[in-house]
Amino acid sequence: MNIDPVLSYLADHQERHLEQLCEWLRMPSISSVSEHREDVQRAARFVADELRDLGLTVEIIPTDGHPLVYAQSEQRPDRKTLLFYGHYDVQPVDPLDLWDSPPFAPVIKDGRVYARGASDDKGQVYCHIKALEAYLKQGLDLPVNVKLIIEGEEECGGHGIYKYTEANREKLACDAVVISDTTLYNEETPAVCYSLKGLCFMEIRLRGPARDLHSGSYGGVVQNPGNALCEIVARLKDADGRCLVPGFYDDVLDLEQDERDAFAALNYTDALLREETGAPAACGEKGYTTLERMWARPTCDVNGLNSGYGGEGAKTIIPARAVAKVSMRLVPNQDPAQIAAAFQQYVQSICPPGVVCEVENLHNAQPVLVTRGSPLMQAGIRALEAGFKAKAVFIREGGSIPIVGTFQSSLEAPVLLLGYGLSTDNIHSPNEKFELASFTGGCRTSAFLLAEAAAGA
Ligand code: BES
Ligand code: MN
Ligand code: MN
Repeated sequence: MNIDPVLSYLADHQERHLEQLCEWLRMPSISSVSEHREDVQRAARFVADELRDLGLTVEIIPTDGHPLVYAQSEQRPDRKTLLFYGHYDVQPVDPLDLWDSPPFAPVIKDGRVYARGASDDKGQVYCHIKALEAYLKQGLDLPVNVKLIIEGEEECGGHGIYKYTEANREKLACDAVVISDTTLYNEETPAVCYSLKGLCFMEIRLRGPARDLHSGSYGGVVQNPGNALCEIVARLKDADGRCLVPGFYDDVLDLEQDERDAFAALNYTDALLREETGAPAACGEKGYTTLERMWARPTCDVNGLNSGYGGEGAKTIIPARAVAKVSMRLVPNQDPAQIAAAFQQYVQSICPPGVVCEVENLHNAQPVLVTRGSPLMQAGIRALEAGFKAKAVFIREGGSIPIVGTFQSSLEAPVLLLGYGLSTDNIHSPNEKFELASFTGGCRTSAFLLAEAAAGA
């Protein structure tokens, strides 16, 4: 199929598309903060209206949490069907003082658009929408049947989409699921991602005395929950960077030699890591390269610690409580529920006496692995290479997209992870941005993909 009219439409309307994206980015759709409930709904309506304007059939589906947006084109039995997934919700913006411009006042500067959600995930979702617009406004038949499901609870662990997917398998039935919520390998190298990490998120809560105590009066005679928590955290990993939760590595699928070779060929360096992160040195589990650890080894990390006094100056107390948020990124074939249970048991077993310890499993996501050789993956590679005019590679990612496991098991459809972001986009951080090159390359890739998927996969 000749998609030149589609590509020229995208080129001609680039500026307007960017302005429209900015309108969406102005909506503070922070799903985890209840005062933004209305804003989340506005962001859902924005994308629903866009899809309706293209002539798709659109529904805004209420859930126990934030709504789902579902849309579909005319479904013809002689065409393949692609289901696009993305999310319109965004992460909280704190610490606000570290943003160079307000998170919901998009700024276009140095070939980038800066705003919360620019890369994760509004900007990436928008590429698919604008590719569809280009076909439809040029009066071309879509090469495939299209379905889209865009959720508003990806960043807050909502369950609406799981329930909906499981209850609507027929409706969501497709030949493949396409997701743009990952990254290019780097600015010059687009990538198809074939593995995501899973997640097991835990909260450890220690309770000591009924209230904060004077540490002179009572120090040394009752357990200090802050000290006790540090003892626990110190025993989560050994000096070689390995997690000490019993059985943690039992189900880990080792990297294949050809994967290790392919990773090595990407020439990632620790100098690059230091530059990207500002960390003084690369660090982690012994026996693996940095990319291997980043993409294919499970991790165990403190995400938050809270106990006692953190304000200015000194305050001599024995804190009443201590809380740690700890998450483990999991790799294929680890099972989050099993890891959660092992973690709970382990933490209870090492908790010092004199405090009451609660360990809660807040949130899980299944790790993802897809085969690299499939026709769908090849179609993805071809679309990326045409879209970004550069050679594409296979990568894995350390991030998680919780719904993917359910798509694989419930819909029994192959998943194509075709990311347009960059690891330096500051997602979940201050000054999130999306490269305009990602936006144009992404729109073009989505346009090519529709044709490639019809022909090949
Ligand atoms: N888009 C990210 C996932 C991602 C991050 C993929 C980095 C590739 C590289 C997604 O929106 C996300 O943030 N997921 C959360 C899931 C969690 C809340 C269960 C994550 O990975 O922390
Ligand atoms: Mn995302
Ligand atoms: Mn995210």
